[in-house]
Amino acid sequence: MKRVIYRGTVIDPVSPKKPDIRKGAYVITEDGVILSVEDRQPVQTEGDTIVDFGENLIIPAFSDLHIHAPQFAERGIGMDCLLFEWLNRYTFPEEARFRERSYAETIYRQVIRELIRQGTLHLAAFTTIHYEASDLFFRLLEESGLYALAGKINMDRNSPDYYVEDTARSLADTERFVSEHLPGGRIGGTDRHYSGRVRPILIPRFAPTCSGELLHGLGRIGQRYKVGVHTHLVESREEAAWAKELFPGDGSDGAIYENAGLLGNGPSIFAHVIFPTETEERILRQYGAYAVHCPDATSNITAGIMPAARLLAGGFPLALGTDVGGGHFTGVYRQVARAVQISKMKEFYEPEEKRVAFFEAFYMATAGGGAVFGNAGRIAPGYRFDALVIRDMSDEGTQLSPEESLERFCYIGDDRDILARYADGKLLSYDTLS
Ligand code: GUN
Ligand code: FE
Repeated sequence: MKRVIYRGTVIDPVSPKKPDIRKGAYVITEDGVILSVEDRQPVQTEGDTIVDFGENLIIPAFSDLHIHAPQFAERGIGMDCLLFEWLNRYTFPEEARFRERSYAETIYRQVIRELIRQGTLHLAAFTTIHYEASDLFFRLLEESGLYALAGKINMDRNSPDYYVEDTARSLADTERFVSEHLPGGRIGGTDRHYSGRVRPILIPRFAPTCSGELLHGLGRIGQRYKVGVHTHLVESREEAAWAKELFPGDGSDGAIYENAGLLGNGPSIFAHVIFPTETEERILRQYGAYAVHCPDATSNITAGIMPAARLLAGGFPLALGTDVGGGHFTGVYRQVARAVQISKMKEFYEPEEKRVAFFEAFYMATAGGGAVFGNAGRIAPGYRFDALVIRDMSDEGTQLSPEESLERFCYIGDDRDILARYADGKLLSYDTLS
């Protein structure tokens, strides 16, 4: 039995209220899984390796539960638009380019390199409507060592002529995609099989670009193959009102997905959830759905701020997302800082809403979102060693506490402060990826 023991200041997000912080602790791992975290040096057995990170922080890797991989090249562009203007002017034309496989490959390889660089080792990703480009992304993720939920997206109406699907084709391509990418399935054209680290999920873009026939068809695929759903939910007042108008029988954005049979087949992941009604709250609770807060995107292209503190207090599973390219930056750690910042704005304008504490936001970015990827998001026995080493952020002549170092990293740190990235106990490198 070969064990690897990591020494450093361990920060484990046990709960949103209180992390467990241990200086000079030893994380004992075997085959990439944490056996225990000890305060004293364990008795070494032959073959053990010790990796000493000194005063630096050992934290769980970040989970980005809402990122649009094909919007990578739009980062920081068109950010003075609101949602619909931004979609029509920038996003639909950019996503349409993914019909070309070579363009998709150029962008998707950069996305994966960037995710690793920024310490995002788990993600739930949107792609485009194209089967081929989405299959390519899935394979690149599989090779990368990252954990992901991915698929192809669906849109069969209220979309531009150059970027829209025929309903039957959308359903056929999706069923093919799901059935071919299940864990254990053969990686097309090779004798290797999908490991299950990357799993398929259904991705109807959002209710306004999907017909009822499409959503119900996707619901049947979800039930047949036991796969979950990832979409946008009540992300702006206009979007929620339009969805209700298009689906008058359902009465609310969340009920549209529920009535289509899309919920309860696997994880349900809803981005934004800015204006949840009682129905949305009931649905989130009933299906244990993840509500994904995307603070930068909220500030850039949508209007309104998720009532994150209230949802957290209500015990709803919350996670963070970058929503690149609605959000302009790939590092989830910056969303931790932004979640705190914009919650203070919300509290200022709506005093009945409370602000989010730093560790609540850190919890959402790690244990909160990590839960959808199995035993991930904590530095605790039984969890995978999916972890980052973060530099002690003290200035010369000063000494920050571990809490202060982590907070400063989230506010002003960058990838240069991430000293190592591990998934399943394997050191990941981004600069050697082609
Ligand atoms: N709603 C529908 N499509 C999108 C998208 O691409 N990004 C965001 N943030 N919201 C959307
Ligand atoms: Fe989005």
